[in-house]
Amino acid sequence: MGRNLSFEIFRYNPNQPTRPPRMQPYQLKETPGMTLYVALNQIREELDPSLMFDFVCRAGVCGSCAMIVNGIQRMACRTLTKDLLSHIRLMPLPVFKLIGDLSVDTGVWFKALNTRISSWIHTDLPFDPKKTEQPMSNRETMAIYEAERCIECGICIASCGTVLTRKTFLGAAGLNHIGRLLLDPRDQRKPRQYLDLIGTDEGIFCCFEMMACEDNCPLGLPLDVQMEFVRRKLGFIV
Ligand code: SF4
Ligand code: FES
Repeated sequence: MGRNLSFEIFRYNPNQPTRPPRMQPYQLKETPGMTLYVALNQIREELDPSLMFDFVCRAGVCGSCAMIVNGIQRMACRTLTKDLLSHIRLMPLPVFKLIGDLSVDTGVWFKALNTRISSWIHTDLPFDPKKTEQPMSNRETMAIYEAERCIECGICIASCGTVLTRKTFLGAAGLNHIGRLLLDPRDQRKPRQYLDLIGTDEGIFCCFEMMACEDNCPLGLPLDVQMEFVRRKLGFIV
């Protein structure tokens, strides 16, 4: 017999500013294998069609279902209710623009980040469709792949005590991406150019090593190691 789950869910629609933010209670019977994703859909289908939250893949791939679950940043589709207390409090991620209830817009934030750090391969090589692809060693490819696993869920950003006080900080996801570009032999930028991009107190000097980013990253990315790698490549650690 499943537990009786009691939810407390943040509700606010910025398009209806006269209705103040509030926590709304819902009751649900727990079913075997229930994830928060399943529970939220059940609430929306059976109890409250107005509840807003995001999901696309329900498989931990798209990164859109991140939220704060009993005080900790998690992905709803990868969180089993059996691993939580029967009282479940859900809040939207901070930092990002609130669309409504549990739904936030991480896309605008990440687009601005990627523009800010010019997060694409910079090369002067002309494109020649007849040439064979530029080969990379397995070692290079695997190191890049590790950093590329980031799904831009925003959890590291929303977990970061520094981002909460300095909203212009690139955050772990931004520095991880810089590390990924530094690893790529096709990118012709010099460390000096990267230094101009991130050698500021909004970039590599902003991190206080509190490491909630790495603790909470649902992909288990080694963000601390990656940030140390970036510092070393740019000459801050010898
Ligand atoms: Fe999410 Fe991890 Fe990428 Fe941060 S580094 S956005 S927590 S997947
Ligand atoms: Fe895609 Fe959860 S719905 S990661």
